[in-house]
Amino acid sequence: MHKSSGLSDASPAALEQLVDWQKGTVSGHIFVDESIYEKEAEQVFLRSWLYLGHESQIMHHGDFISTYMGADSILVVRQRDGTVKGLLNACRHRGMGVCRADSGNASTFVCPFHGWTYDTAGELRSVPLLKSGYEDKLDKSQWGLMPVPRVEIYKGLIFGCFDLDAPSLLEYLGDMAWYLDCLLDRTEGGTEVIGGAHKMRINGNWKLAAEQFAGDNYHTVMTHASVPGAWSDPDKPMPEFVDLMEQFGKQFVSREGHSVAGFTVNTANQLRSGIATFSKDVDIVLEYYRQSRKQVANRLGEERANGPATGAGNVFPNFTYLNMVMGASSIGVVHPHGPNQFDWWRWGIVDKSASKEVKAAMVRCLHTWPLGMADADDGENWGAIQTSIKGPLARKLMFNYQLGMGQEGADDQYPGRVYPGMVSELPQRYFYRRWLEYMTSESWPDINDT
Ligand code: FES
Ligand SMILES: [Fe+2]
Repeated sequence: MHKSSGLSDASPAALEQLVDWQKGTVSGHIFVDESIYEKEAEQVFLRSWLYLGHESQIMHHGDFISTYMGADSILVVRQRDGTVKGLLNACRHRGMGVCRADSGNASTFVCPFHGWTYDTAGELRSVPLLKSGYEDKLDKSQWGLMPVPRVEIYKGLIFGCFDLDAPSLLEYLGDMAWYLDCLLDRTEGGTEVIGGAHKMRINGNWKLAAEQFAGDNYHTVMTHASVPGAWSDPDKPMPEFVDLMEQFGKQFVSREGHSVAGFTVNTANQLRSGIATFSKDVDIVLEYYRQSRKQVANRLGEERANGPATGAGNVFPNFTYLNMVMGASSIGVVHPHGPNQFDWWRWGIVDKSASKEVKAAMVRCLHTWPLGMADADDGENWGAIQTSIKGPLARKLMFNYQLGMGQEGADDQYPGRVYPGMVSELPQRYFYRRWLEYMTSESWPDINDT
C-alpha cells in the first residue's frame, strides 16, 4: 500500500499531494471527501464553461430545457429575439423550483408554492397579494430569476459560465474546437439532437465518468466484453479491435484539460473488417459515413475526414461525447450531486442533413450501443468503485494513472499534444492537471505554459 496522505482538508498544499499528474498518481480522497467536493462546486463548477444543451432542443420562443450547472438547477430558454438565456431555477421568494418539467414550451414559469410568476426572460411579472400584502411597493424588477451571466454557443452546443473572468467559450475550448468540428460541422446545417434523453443516476463520483470519456480506451475490451460477444464473429474476437485502436488511432489532449481519442483512418472500413457481424442499422449508418466522407473532406480537410474525433471525448470538466462508434454518435453531460452521486445524461446527435432513414437507423443503433449495453456496464463500474474506495483505508490509496507515460509529443497534423495510439492515460493525466489548477488557484486559472 502506498503511504497515506493523512490529509483531510482541501487546501492547495493538501491537494498537491493528492494529485501528481507528472508521476501519474491520484489519491482516492478526491473521489470521496466532502471537503474536496465542496471546493469543486465553487472552484471548478462556478468557473468553467458548462454544457447547457443543444440549440435544436429549443428552436422556438418559450422552448426550454431543465439542466444543471454543477449542482445548481438551471432553465435554458429560447428568447423572443432568438437568443438563449440560462436562468437559475429557484424562485426568489423561497427558492422553490419554478419549473419541474424536463423540457417543453412555456410563456411563463409559475412558482407552484405561492404563485410568483416569471416570464421567459426570468423577469418577475406577477405576485399574489401585490396590492394588499405588499402595498404595491414590491419592486418586481429586483426579484427576477437569477440569470447565468454568460451564455455562448459553439456550433449548436450551448454553454454557460458564472465566472466573468473566464475567457470566451472559443478560447476556453482551445485546441479542442478543431476536433469538435469533426462531430459538429461535418456538413452544411450542422447537427441536431435525436431521440429522447437517456438518464441514469449513479452512486459514484462524477470524475469517474468524466475521466473515462476523457480517454479510457483501456477498459473497453474487459468492461464491454459482452458487446462483441453478442455481435462478433467468434473467429474475430475483441482483441483485434484493440489492435485496431492502437494501430489506427491516436489520443489528443489540449492544455485546457479537454481530450479525445480518435481513429485517424476511414473507420467505417476498418471497423467493418474488425468485427464481422454488424446489425443492418450499423451498416446503414456506416454507409452514410462512407458516402459523406468526400463532402466532409471538402469542408474540413482530409485529416478531419479521417476521424480524428471518432471515439470518446471530454470537454473539461463534464461534457462528453462518443462519436461514430458502432454507428451511433452521442453527446452527454455528467452532473455531480455530492461526492457520491451523479446524473449521467446522454442524447443522440446526427448531421441535420442526413436522410430520415439514416437518422432512424442511428436512433436504433444508440439503443444497442451505448445506451442499451455499454452504459449499464460503465455505470456498474462507477458505482462499484465508489463502494470500494469509500472506506477510510481505501480512500488513502494512490491510484495508478501511468499507462503510456512520457510517450506524447507534438504532431504537425494535429493540434494539442498527441499520444501515438488510442490506449494510454495521457488524457486522464491532463484532465487532473487542469483540475488541480482550478482547485488550487484563487481565481480563474490562467494557462501560462504548454
Ligand atoms: S417559493 Fe415561489 S412563490 Fe413562494
Ligand atoms: Fe465504457
